[in-house]
Amino acid sequence: MAGESRFHEVFDAGRTAVITGAADGIGLTAAQTFASLGLNVVMADLGGDQLWRAAGAVREKARDGAGVEAIQTDVADPAQLIRLRERAFARFGDVAVLMNNAGIGGGGHAFEQPDRWAKLLAVNLGGVINGVQVFTQAMIDQDRPAVIINTGSKQGITTPPGDTAYNVSKAAIKVLTEGLQHTLRETPGCRVSAHLLIPGFTYTGMIRRRIAEKPPGAWTAPQVVDFMLERVSAGDFYILCPDNDTPRALDDARMAWAAHDIIDNRPPLSRWHRDYRDAFGAFVAGKG
Ligand code: NAI
Repeated sequence: MAGESRFHEVFDAGRTAVITGAADGIGLTAAQTFASLGLNVVMADLGGDQLWRAAGAVREKARDGAGVEAIQTDVADPAQLIRLRERAFARFGDVAVLMNNAGIGGGGHAFEQPDRWAKLLAVNLGGVINGVQVFTQAMIDQDRPAVIINTGSKQGITTPPGDTAYNVSKAAIKVLTEGLQHTLRETPGCRVSAHLLIPGFTYTGMIRRRIAEKPPGAWTAPQVVDFMLERVSAGDFYILCPDNDTPRALDDARMAWAAHDIIDNRPPLSRWHRDYRDAFGAFVAGKG
């Protein structure tokens, strides 16, 4: 449902946002943006200098007396999420926004690096499950408008070859968030909604570690966060971000092609199959 005014109450000064993966990239920018709107911000990340420095950068943006708290948290550990919830409610008495955003890459192909697979799934998927399990009921019980935003990825929808572990985690976050939103909307009197943030290629810490300079095709984290606020405020569930190389029409064509692998009984990931290269190119051109 678009245009629901209740979302304005969520992003009002004096309310509180809890963000995981808040020491860098999209999470840090979201923390700065919320603080600049006058929301209190609870920043959860692995700790160390990076988190304390990030908290300083967020305090500089805070207005209207917004409080900023940084809490060392490994999202893979449910006990640390429980502590995060307790500290957020003890300090601010409110959680209007929960952003389950912490994520890592580098899991690997289907049959390699079992340790990395386990670690990636524990952080990317386990972290979101923990956040949802630990915070949702408390957010419903507040009886105030609130949102849960889980960060997925286009890689969880079109599942390109490369980092299969990452794709598995992000596909599962999509399924989890869809199920969560269904449950929330079927819960009588519930004033909490869930949203799936799907960034495009975004120049953040995750990318900076591999590529020294921002590629022209990438969006910046502030572009993603501005888009997220606009679309959540409009009531969207799927917040599918474009980037400078990928307009919405191209994403739509890629998603439709992927769904038609099943419908048309093609090989999986046919978009990257040499026998289907021309057909895929013609399909995209036809949609453009
Ligand atoms: P980033 O690397 O700049 O930020 C991720 C943050 O998560 C870091 O501060 C890191 O310390 C933290 N983190 C890692 N493991 C953690 C743990 N166990 N507990 C708590 N915090 C932990 O990366 P970026 O790009 O801002 O990533 C944010 C989210 O966006 C991730 O879920 C990522 O998968 C997703 N995403 C990013 C895209 C991109 O192009 N940058 C594209 C699509 C999705």
